[in-house]
Amino acid sequence: MEFNIALVKGDGIGPEIVDSAVEVLEVIGKKYGHTFNFTPYLAGGCAIDACGEPLPKETVEGCKNSDSVLLGAVGGPKWDTLPGNIRPEKALLGLRAALGLFTNLRPAKIYPALAGACTLRPDIIERGFDLVIVRELTGGIYFGERGRREGKYGPEAYDTEAYSVMEIERIARVAFETAMKRRKNVISIDKANVLETSRLWRETVHRIAAEYPEVECTDMLVDNAAMQLVRDPSRFDVVVTSNMFGDILSDEASQITGSIGLLASSSLGSGKCGLYEPIHGSAPDIAGQNKANPIATILSAAMMLRYSFGLTEEADAIEKAVNETLEAGVRTADIVGDSGATPVTCTGMTAEIISRL
Ligand code: IPM
Ligand code: MN
Repeated sequence: MEFNIALVKGDGIGPEIVDSAVEVLEVIGKKYGHTFNFTPYLAGGCAIDACGEPLPKETVEGCKNSDSVLLGAVGGPKWDTLPGNIRPEKALLGLRAALGLFTNLRPAKIYPALAGACTLRPDIIERGFDLVIVRELTGGIYFGERGRREGKYGPEAYDTEAYSVMEIERIARVAFETAMKRRKNVISIDKANVLETSRLWRETVHRIAAEYPEVECTDMLVDNAAMQLVRDPSRFDVVVTSNMFGDILSDEASQITGSIGLLASSSLGSGKCGLYEPIHGSAPDIAGQNKANPIATILSAAMMLRYSFGLTEEADAIEKAVNETLEAGVRTADIVGDSGATPVTCTGMTAEIISRL
């Protein structure tokens, strides 16, 4: 089969990790008889430098017309003082909105080989965990009305959280469908003791839950969820939550896997075209030093094969190769933990994974 993939390498370590994933995809293409055509597009800080805007029209069009998008990361200190509407992050939010990608899947599981890189106590990690965060991605406070105004105490700023029933229903359905293919358990996370949007969220999730009698569904307040995630992550299967809570909890979930450098994500809308990216940022402190962990991006490429292209066997092969590489004790600097291993480079890790494909 033939697929057109838009590459948005972005800033910082973005180019290095996307190059790694492209190398892996090229090997997969040769091995399984597929052609992947890659077209690069600018977004983020590099686009601000080149064209004066974070998300050029050509990038949006190119991504829309591709079979899927592979993205590295955007942002960096160089662009941190720009006004909100022309910050690099605007590119990511703009792409998610333009492509209608309302579902963000962020799986997090513990690799037994990495138990020593994990910050939780061994007796907690022994129980293992394998969860997926289903994060709503095109609504909530990220996209609500915001601004500056004169308030009671002088100048103030505001951001607004708004959710429609439609937006909650469609993300809830994704969560329940996901749960049906897993351990049939959904935990819906909100702040219904304070927020009106959360009360609508809860009500709506319960209504959709009634359509899935086989799935056990419980509510959890977000503050409690943040605590339960580090107390006993094994109790989570599918987590469904709003844009901002999902953003925060997925960083927490990544840390208990050992490193944020391991977590892949897929962003999907109603069609097959998705955006695949690691959940971590552009790590400007290690950019250009060949130190980054490419695993999250390589696993994001595997998710692309699985969810957008229907290439299950190929996706399994990548995940297996990553697993075997970790089992063999190969470590980038972020996951050395207590292993005593000498860290490999980004290209070194990529070569190790490819050698196991
Ligand atoms: C993420 C990132 C983005 C988000 C930023 C860069 C806009 O943190 O994908 O988790 O908040 O969604
Ligand atoms: Mn984030």
